[in-house]
Amino acid sequence: MRVELRNLCKRWGNVVGVDNISLEIKDSEFVALLGPSGCGKTTTLLMIAGIYKPTSGEILFDGRIVNHIPPKDRNIGMVFQSYALYPHMTVFENMAYPLKLQKVPKDEQRRRVQHVADMMGIGHLLDRKPGQLSGGQQQRVALGRALVKDPELLLFDEPLSNLDARLRLTMRGEIKRRQMELGITSIYVTHDQVEAMTMADRIAVIKDGKLQAYDTPDELYERPRTLFIAGFIGNPPMNLINGVEVVRDGEEYLARHQAFCLRVPAERGKHVAAKGEVILGIRPEDISLADDGQDGMRGEVYVVEPLGRDDLVNVELPGNTFIHFLADPALRLKPGTPVALCFNTEKVQFFDPRTERSLLWH
Ligand SMILES: Nc1ncnc2c1ncn2[C@@H]1O[C@H](COP(=O)(O)OP(=O)(O)OP(=O)(O)O)[C@@H](O)[C@H]1O
Ligand SMILES: [Mg+2]
Repeated sequence: MRVELRNLCKRWGNVVGVDNISLEIKDSEFVALLGPSGCGKTTTLLMIAGIYKPTSGEILFDGRIVNHIPPKDRNIGMVFQSYALYPHMTVFENMAYPLKLQKVPKDEQRRRVQHVADMMGIGHLLDRKPGQLSGGQQQRVALGRALVKDPELLLFDEPLSNLDARLRLTMRGEIKRRQMELGITSIYVTHDQVEAMTMADRIAVIKDGKLQAYDTPDELYERPRTLFIAGFIGNPPMNLINGVEVVRDGEEYLARHQAFCLRVPAERGKHVAAKGEVILGIRPEDISLADDGQDGMRGEVYVVEPLGRDDLVNVELPGNTFIHFLADPALRLKPGTPVALCFNTEKVQFFDPRTERSLLWH
């Protein structure tokens, strides 16, 4: 099913929950609504579900306005953070509940619940009560209950945040896999950018009720259009260095800062030259130690955080500038070690400090 939001707004008095959001979700697409706490993700989802009435704007399913259609007639499956299973009912009764409401015949209920439960790997647990299940099993039941109705649209609101890290990883893969197999259009609310990046076909980034960007994970990562996106997407986050000036030097472009002077590829530099002071962005994985004899920017290791596969190394450059990069733990860098760093200048980003917009991607 295709979903379209047109100038969607939700206000309570002078509190603005959702501020003029427009976006289109294709049939079978998996879209994440990503943003910090309080940005309006749940409010958006509840309007799509029909539980909240929009203050203004329209919601369309397959091109038809559904604003007036009650939740039960929207053919939506929902999965929440709190699984909201009925504790006194068995797994079977929980999963069959939406079918019972639709007055589906008993044997048909049994067949459909068993089919979905087997697919979710909980077919042997149908006689248990939710209290006798692990968190992951409860979450599967909640997902199963959303699927038995054969919904045309699945809505998820932070469904994995109650699970431990390991199980979250497993369930993340599982939801993605089921969604791909079934091809059900899905909208997935999360404040966890890793979850959004790994699961979604496209991500709608929301801040203060407004849509900041709507793009594929790759685009958001490689071509962030705003400073907010640059700092929000990616972990560890992109380095953002203030007070950089880009100047033309013959055929070349140089990015000059108190602590360094970098040669920048012309296709990036030409958009930034003579723009005054800008913000330079560079991801930690695009910084490396200079090879012997190579001219790098000089600094001193400030602190080292072992992440297992890599060390996250924070370096102090002259002028009280700090940048972090990823280093091989075998190098055993220590606070105080002098280092020389190189940037992969094919990957540098530039932002206008005033508008906070990218100077490279519009
Ligand atoms: N019923 C309500 N009445 C008044 N204000 C509300 C109501 N529901 C939400 N809000 C406000 O609207 C804004 C958006 O809330 P929402 O629940 O959509 O945030 P969220 O992005 O889901 O955050 P979180 O990640 O913390 O769940 C918040 O400022 C919130 O306080
Ligand atoms: Mg929420």
